[in-house]
Amino acid sequence: MFWSSTFVLALAHLCVAKPLSKRWDNLAEKHSWVDIPRGWEYLSPAPADMRFDLRVGLKQDKIEDLIATLMETSDPSHERYGKHLSKAEAEALVAPHSTTVNAVDSWLEYHEIGDKDINRSGDWVTLRVTVAQAERMLGAKYNVYHHPVSSQKVVRTMSYSLPRELHSHVDVVAPTTYFGTLRSMRTTSFLQPEIKPVEQEDPAPDFSINAVVPTSCNSVITPACLRALYNTSTYVPKATATNKLGVAGYLDEFANRADLQTFFRQFRTDAVGSSFTTVQVNGGGDDQNDPGVEANLDIQYTTGISFPTPNIYYSTGGSPPFNPDSQTPTNTNEPYLDWLNFILAQSTIPQVITTSYGDDEQTVPNDYAVRVCNLFAQLGSVGSTVFFSSGDFGVGGGDCRTNDGTNKVLFQPAFPASCPFVTTVGGTTRVNPEIGVSFSGGGFSRYFARPSYQNTAVSTFVTGLGTKFSGLYNATGRAYPDLAAQGNGFQVVIGGRVGSVGGTSASSPTVAGVFALLNDFRIANGKSSLGFINPLIYSTASTGFNDIVAGSNPGCGTTGFTAGKGWDPVTGLGTPDFLKLQTFV
Ligand SMILES: *[C@@H]1O[C@H](CO)[C@@H](O)[C@H](O)[C@H]1NC(C)=O
Ligand SMILES: *[C@@H]1O[C@H](CO)[C@@H](O)[C@H](O)[C@H]1NC(C)=O
Ligand SMILES: *[C@@H]1O[C@H](CO)[C@@H](O)[C@H](O)[C@H]1NC(C)=O
Repeated sequence: MFWSSTFVLALAHLCVAKPLSKRWDNLAEKHSWVDIPRGWEYLSPAPADMRFDLRVGLKQDKIEDLIATLMETSDPSHERYGKHLSKAEAEALVAPHSTTVNAVDSWLEYHEIGDKDINRSGDWVTLRVTVAQAERMLGAKYNVYHHPVSSQKVVRTMSYSLPRELHSHVDVVAPTTYFGTLRSMRTTSFLQPEIKPVEQEDPAPDFSINAVVPTSCNSVITPACLRALYNTSTYVPKATATNKLGVAGYLDEFANRADLQTFFRQFRTDAVGSSFTTVQVNGGGDDQNDPGVEANLDIQYTTGISFPTPNIYYSTGGSPPFNPDSQTPTNTNEPYLDWLNFILAQSTIPQVITTSYGDDEQTVPNDYAVRVCNLFAQLGSVGSTVFFSSGDFGVGGGDCRTNDGTNKVLFQPAFPASCPFVTTVGGTTRVNPEIGVSFSGGGFSRYFARPSYQNTAVSTFVTGLGTKFSGLYNATGRAYPDLAAQGNGFQVVIGGRVGSVGGTSASSPTVAGVFALLNDFRIANGKSSLGFINPLIYSTASTGFNDIVAGSNPGCGTTGFTAGKGWDPVTGLGTPDFLKLQTFV
């Protein structure tokens, strides 16, 4: 009796579920990898009852309008130039359509995800689910993967799907196929023990006049070198109550306050006693006994150039080391999303933000890269300039083989450097003249088309290149870097001692410092911040840069691109000349 009634109930359930299941069980693939991403190893299946947070990125209803607005408000010849959106205006454009919300809601209902396990905030829905639930919803198979270099373990899947109907409503689900984590990402700096550090500048440079660039800057770089080279020495910031510069730190890297004082005492004496603010995001740490090379480099050079502009160091945390046996829910542990969603939720956002991390573009799934890139567009639309280092491997590091199963050797662009809504910074070295440094990352995206703002500059370069490297790079892709700055022999204080550090990680904070001063100048004159600068620097302000015409960026077994007159994929438009740029902003 008991048995048969259950049987009838089960049948009844089937009858009701049928039309629904057609709707929600008709899965189509969203993204998959051919092979396990390089650097990662399969460890074990993920425990079926492990709970984790799944982020569903809803389609942003008016993202095309947001991007169109961004292009207008950053085009110096447009009447909307400088009229940045408010936070609320930008949020209204990225909000999902009610059809999208309803479709996703009934999908969640079908999978019996209760309200207590759902968090909604604008265009993201976060679900607390078990591995078994996520596998059913996404036609996925979650495993534990290991990254030996960073000792990181993650739960990811080699492929995921969504109901056909949801493909037009959901941009991305995470974590799924993006394996990059806070710790496995590449920082774009490295120690240079071969370059003998300078302990003290002697005599102290005189900044009452635009200083001559000392010849020592050929091998070691200090704030004095950069301030003389880029003509910021005589500028006195005035808008320090409003203007801010942010450094985004992702790895477990902490900027050290005592080291900054030591740095100031040696290289920027007028700044002694000033400091920066640390903002901890998502459980990010601030261990003052554990100074990070990247973090110290970034903060010492952003403050070293922009002093007394307030600087903020954002320390974004990852989850604690992943333990597959634990019943504690693990978070997604992915870079970018936590910090980007945090910063976009703030009522005031620094007018300049610099970040020195990245990955090969091909290791970031296209859907994930597009969504993250759109978040940078949103930052630009509310008036922030977002700088990224271009990477330290020229046209590509390692064997440059593709991961699509064909194993072809191709130049390997980096992401987020390849996102058209960030400003990407390459590296130079030496002075009188500066030349492109050999590690300077540069190239052409395979995900993002060439934006119109760089059409003229880039097509001139591509035409000049002729058939050289034909097939190795994507001539119609977004090209980078956009500009450049010194990247070799930076004098950085780490644990009380001066060491030499190199990388485009040094270049990006340098340019961020210069543009923070340009923002100061605009704000002090009652104008808005510069916001997204690419349309400006490729048009009216293109002569505000020192064109770099020598140097190349070898990689992938080739000699790489060569710097020359005009834009090139080693040094972009060149290095900033503050005094000239001042006349264009
Ligand atoms: C939703 O957000 C609240 C507040 O941030 C948090 O306490 C809760 O754990 C979250 N729930 C889920 C399912 O993510
Ligand atoms: C900026 O400084 C350089 C020397 O580094 C100098 O040649 C150039 O003329 C300066 N630019 C302006 C606009 O004064
Ligand atoms: C070049 O870039 C475009 C996007 O801009 C992309 O659609 C195309 O597939 C890329 N080509 C190659 C060969 O990667």
